[in-house]
Amino acid sequence: MKIIDGKSVSAAVKEETKQEVKELKSKGISVGLAVILVGEDPASKIYVANKKKACEDLGIISEEYLLPETATTKELLELIDVLNNEKSINGILCQLPLPNNIDEKTVINAISPEKDVDAFHPSNVGRIMIGDYDFVPCTPAGIMEMLKYYNIEISGKTCVVIGRSNIVGKPMSMLLLHQNGTVTTCHSRTKDLAEVTKKADILVSAVGKANFVKADMVKDGAVVIDVGMNRENGKLCGDVCFEEVSEKASYITPVPGGVGPMTIAMLMKNTLTASKKQNNIK
Ligand code: GUN
Repeated sequence: MKIIDGKSVSAAVKEETKQEVKELKSKGISVGLAVILVGEDPASKIYVANKKKACEDLGIISEEYLLPETATTKELLELIDVLNNEKSINGILCQLPLPNNIDEKTVINAISPEKDVDAFHPSNVGRIMIGDYDFVPCTPAGIMEMLKYYNIEISGKTCVVIGRSNIVGKPMSMLLLHQNGTVTTCHSRTKDLAEVTKKADILVSAVGKANFVKADMVKDGAVVIDVGMNRENGKLCGDVCFEEVSEKASYITPVPGGVGPMTIAMLMKNTLTASKKQNNIK
């Protein structure tokens, strides 16, 4: 069994991005990301702080917009409109979840698709479906990058994704399909889940429940990707029972240190892509 080391892969992606940002800078082109946070959610605050730090490390300009919990959809739309028209900002990310009083769908739709580094806008979602895309949501993009880094073949493989969210499950399934995987997407209504997951050569779990994936759900030699970020007694753990599943898997991502570090690296890469596209650079 091999551990898929998200820290190493993310460091490689960040280093490559840093070099490209430097090259653009030498041509007088900057890369800028605006991050919007509404309210005081502690986990979101940590994510946003980490994004800012990654930008600084890579030479990407970062702007933070902190709005109070009481902000209205209209106020948020006004800010997005300003950022859509601001030349120095190439990427806009509005941290989710948003407070209940804000209409999330309207906000996502308002971000210019060219600056939508999360790839949440329907236009970018549609482009992923077709297979003609510039941006991919950061978590599935990070998983694809890890599989590539470890030379894990996808073509012809049985791939099972547990979870069908718009942020992870659905785009993940689509990306594996584009790489010629035979993909099944499972969810809370799936019957005999273990029967399906046991067939997977590549198993991705994005459920959000600690110890959800047990050894008897996994095929011998499977590649197991754990997207879970669960807190158990204050400790961060994934969806997968690591001790027992790692004995069967050929490759496995740990939590922490697996998928997590990849997401920010891919956000940086998407922001670089946004700047290149907006400045007509291939
Ligand atoms: N909240 C949790 N994950 C994400 C993400 O990838 N993007 C945004 N905008 N918010 C999130």
